[in-house]
Amino acid sequence: MAFRSTFLNILVLTQLAILPTSAADQSPDLNPRFWNEDEGFSSPPYYPTPNGGWLPNWSEAYEKAHSVVSNMTLAEKVNLTTGTGFFMGPCVGQTGSALRFGIPNICLMDGPLGIRNTEGNTAFPAGITVGATFDKDLMYERGVGLGGEARGKGVNVLLGPVVGPLGRKPRGGRIWEAFGVDPSLQAIAAERTIKGMQSTGTIANIKHFIGNEQEMHRMTTVVTKGYSSNIDDRTLHELYLWPFAEAVRAGVGSVMTAYNDVNNSVCSQNSMLINGILKDELGFQGFVVTDWLGHVGGVSSALAGLDMSMPGDGAVPLFGNSYWAYELSRSVLNGTVPMERLNDMVTRIVATWYKFGQDKDYPLPNFSSNTLDEKGPLYPGALFSPYGVVNKFVNVQDNHNATVRAIARDAITLLKNEDNTLPLKPDDPLKVFGEDAGPNPDGLNSCKDMGCDKGVLTMGWGSGTARLPYLITPQDAIGNISSNAEFHISDDFPSDVEVNDNDTAVVFINADSGENYITVEGNPGDRKEAGLKAWHEGDDLVKAAAEKFSKVVVVIHTVGPILLDEWIDQKSVKAVLVAHLPGQEAGNAVTDILFGDYSPSGHLPYAIPHKESDYPESVNLKEQPLGKVQDTFTEGLYIDYRHFIKENITTRYQFGHGLSYTTFKISEPSLSEETPLNDAYPPPRKPKGPTPTYASTIPPASEVAWPEHFNRIWRYLYPYLDNPEAVTTGGSYPYPTGYTTDPKPGPRAGGAEGGNPALWDVAFSVKVKVTNTGNRPGRAVAQLYVELPSSLGVDTPARQLRQFEKTKILDPGESETLTMKITRKDLSVWDVVVQDWKAPVKGEGVKIWIGESVVDLRAVCEIGGKCSLAE
Ligand code: NOJ
Repeated sequence: MAFRSTFLNILVLTQLAILPTSAADQSPDLNPRFWNEDEGFSSPPYYPTPNGGWLPNWSEAYEKAHSVVSNMTLAEKVNLTTGTGFFMGPCVGQTGSALRFGIPNICLMDGPLGIRNTEGNTAFPAGITVGATFDKDLMYERGVGLGGEARGKGVNVLLGPVVGPLGRKPRGGRIWEAFGVDPSLQAIAAERTIKGMQSTGTIANIKHFIGNEQEMHRMTTVVTKGYSSNIDDRTLHELYLWPFAEAVRAGVGSVMTAYNDVNNSVCSQNSMLINGILKDELGFQGFVVTDWLGHVGGVSSALAGLDMSMPGDGAVPLFGNSYWAYELSRSVLNGTVPMERLNDMVTRIVATWYKFGQDKDYPLPNFSSNTLDEKGPLYPGALFSPYGVVNKFVNVQDNHNATVRAIARDAITLLKNEDNTLPLKPDDPLKVFGEDAGPNPDGLNSCKDMGCDKGVLTMGWGSGTARLPYLITPQDAIGNISSNAEFHISDDFPSDVEVNDNDTAVVFINADSGENYITVEGNPGDRKEAGLKAWHEGDDLVKAAAEKFSKVVVVIHTVGPILLDEWIDQKSVKAVLVAHLPGQEAGNAVTDILFGDYSPSGHLPYAIPHKESDYPESVNLKEQPLGKVQDTFTEGLYIDYRHFIKENITTRYQFGHGLSYTTFKISEPSLSEETPLNDAYPPPRKPKGPTPTYASTIPPASEVAWPEHFNRIWRYLYPYLDNPEAVTTGGSYPYPTGYTTDPKPGPRAGGAEGGNPALWDVAFSVKVKVTNTGNRPGRAVAQLYVELPSSLGVDTPARQLRQFEKTKILDPGESETLTMKITRKDLSVWDVVVQDWKAPVKGEGVKIWIGESVVDLRAVCEIGGKCSLAE
């Protein structure tokens, strides 16, 4: 049996940290909500949990849920809230079941780019690649593909998309799982992905909520303290929460909490974040699940709004202990956790299951993420487990390879192309260098969870990976097209290579990163050792080629920003492509561009600076030998391009940059007012609708007694208690400060999924005509940035991406008119005093810039004035 102890490594203690420190080390900006003199950054209490079900578009699902939950026993209810334990079933996590109502163990499975640890699946391009396409249709299409594959395998909840990390730290290990360093890019890509996934009936899971910007020191365990992301209210709303809000608005069915703390309260039991911001302000109607082993307290998390514990285990995994399961039964029976809270947890889970039609013909898992063998233990986490068929080898790939190739190709970002070196001709003499052009010499999928950097880099490492069903390497694809290519699949430059005048050297280099439970070449997830440089001395390989050859083309597969200054200005380095993380069609995508079948149309989803010290110091990786890491977001709104523009720092390539083999003209900009912004704040929200009601009486203890003749699996997590009748009420529990069961009126910024629906009123729409002025077909991206007026009374980044549209393939001379809609929210700042979004009345003073990158701006519209072409 090929049993993989995938998560045991999570327990590897990467930290000796023991004691939490109290106050943050840095004083905050105007931050009355999350900072006080005594405690530094702190997260105020927000109780009780708002019950789900008050929105009309969820009411049918909630009614169905209500009718079954009303008839459930305590054991059935608890079952659905808690995972069955680590490695206690086919999926990376599964709840218990309520079979009397047709509700099976709900299967939760990674991940954001394909179904993990199985076969017969597709390995799609990673999130960062999808972001680089700036193509909303491809974003959706990938979502449909992911959802369809999840359904085909019997996965109820697919654990993606990722929008946290947002990409604050360029060295952050998991930024490649998300879509790029901008809240609107993340938001739009997440919305498209979720809609696509959920159209298939699969429940999407947006993660990690929130502030999970670094891998090292992320987890709180019995011996470690996860770092605290200290985020002020405005930065939280305008950057990190923004994509989550859009995901909720898109109807996402589930949210995963982050491992870390936010403002010194662990995300899985942070009442302000879950009860206050997610469930009240954003009106989230689905369920909230922990990250794996991110559960740190039983009653505390229940009261803070958590609905599901995954994989169910408590402080020490794999021993049959849990903070919930039987403990949740006990805390309900003894009156500590109100029945109303448990009913809401279960109702949210069951309603979500109904909402996506999973009560009708939804397959059960037909695979095991624990082994690729046909037969194996059904519960590998139990030492003694029933044995049987665990893999039915269902192939779910469909024709998704076409989507993979289209995304990987349309993401490829041409940074530089001198003397029209690209595209190449099939008979051009080529010398291809770099291990990144070839296969993994140890074999396809030979590194668990892609935890190595060998061969072409198709994705980072960790839980956000999927096995490659096959791989087209650049070597394969170039070999298929070129009649004259010589391959040197090594990161060492060969001393004996023959150099001819007409040769073009094509050099493949890469930069990898991943999740913290695996360390690769000294990088514990984050790029601690490698920094922002190419791996395996890739810079030297490029320099060596540039010394010998007069034409060098560099192809880079990378997880995020990579420094290029060591060689990019060398005369012989003619062309540079960033191919991001392409998935299984890596080679075909790159040859589609190299040989000119398509013009490149990707754009950088982050800026590339000249040197790492150009970033704000506060976004460096944080480590300290003892105590809890306080990671204070002192740069506020100024990350990536927002920072570089503010500080007047010239970048090597700015956010949004990407060339084509042709050129485009943006002309005829026009702006029309749609819904007038008559007031600075949105109109008052509607009050909440009714939510399901249940009897609040504590159920009979017998409901969680072990059933007679029950065949227990050792270490499996059950809701049952040995002697439930002995549990009595009347004890005292130290409820958190501020705890109450009196419902709050909904916050003024709320009102529907995502927030007050008026925030999405289209205030203005902008049209531009894009013409292909060159002599090859190609696609252009119009990027829309807003510049907000100083009349808002707060300092605001000079440019903020809010919309984009991509043309179809335009032939030379052909034009397309693109329309971009700007909402009230797009023009608003978060007013920390009023606790609402504030826009400039009538949009006065707003400037709207349209261009091909954040610095290549071609047109500007002033509200109330005219649009003009930028000089
Ligand atoms: C931990 C990761 O942070 C999360 O993204 C993933 O879904 C779970 N493990 C389950 O594998």
